Amino acid sequence: MSRHLLAIRLLERPQIEELIDLGRHYKQKVESNEGAALTPGGSVGLLFFENSTRTRVSFEQAASYLGLRVVNFSGSGSSLSKGESLKDTLLTLRYERLDAVVMRHSASGSAQMAARHFQRPVINAGDGEHEHPTQALGDALTILQRKGRIEGLKVAIVGDVLHSRVARSNAWLLQKLGAEVRFVGPRSLMPSSTGLLPGQVFYDLRPGITGADVVMCLRLQKERMTDGLLSSVREYASMYQINRRTLKSASPEALVMHPGPLNRGIELDDAVADGAASGILDQVQNGIYVRMAALHWAFAAQEAGK
Ligand code: NCD
Repeated sequence: MSRHLLAIRLLERPQIEELIDLGRHYKQKVESNEGAALTPGGSVGLLFFENSTRTRVSFEQAASYLGLRVVNFSGSGSSLSKGESLKDTLLTLRYERLDAVVMRHSASGSAQMAARHFQRPVINAGDGEHEHPTQALGDALTILQRKGRIEGLKVAIVGDVLHSRVARSNAWLLQKLGAEVRFVGPRSLMPSSTGLLPGQVFYDLRPGITGADVVMCLRLQKERMTDGLLSSVREYASMYQINRRTLKSASPEALVMHPGPLNRGIELDDAVADGAASGILDQVQNGIYVRMAALHWAFAAQEAGK
């Protein structure tokens, strides 16, 4: 049976903890220059049908630290641009003998569909507005490093929750690991189905981040917005920007996070983004280690089932 990593919502707490522990293990290996190659190795396809910098680079880094062969594949240079369906693309890649695929796609639910057709491990690198599980795992490792625990922390997720797969994966992970989750943002950028998500909703920044141990900012996803969702970016920044003044409502030791790419001066000001409270660059590095964990996890199950 193939082991996929499609959504944090589908994992149990022990599986999430196993992945984070594996990430910690690989962090130590890479930082001490120890070999981390998986035996036996194999090939992994990186299928990015949407733009990406950090996720794509960190999966490439992760795969190369693990000694896996990487086959890169992007939407524009492939048969998808000739009208081939995702199903046929995945079937083709199965018979091209790829052992696993990492996929980013603009359609929510596409990772699940890919898993059905590929029948070998699929790791979701972001599917539309649904989930981005490895981002949440890297963020969890960052919180654990900086705060020593997740259980009992108050975590405020601030901004464009409506379009954010990062918000959804993080909220599920944090709730399963015992944190108190809050969603903070304007009504127009909050999903109508917040009742189905694990967290309390706040429309005002100050009460939303009061006493928060972690403030997780989200990018305004202008490419996914239909007109009229936001009256102006400047107005958004005046109401929801995390800066030295607004951060005073959070816990004095609050950790500030952002998955990137940042709109500097909108979600966050420079002083906070580049200051001591920021965990942004740790998030980038930890992304590599949890992606090594995700690949190991998928390959180990594949090997066991042979
Ligand atoms: C996020 C994504 O693509 O979902 N970025 C990332 O993976 N680091 C968030 C975003 O694009 O705003």
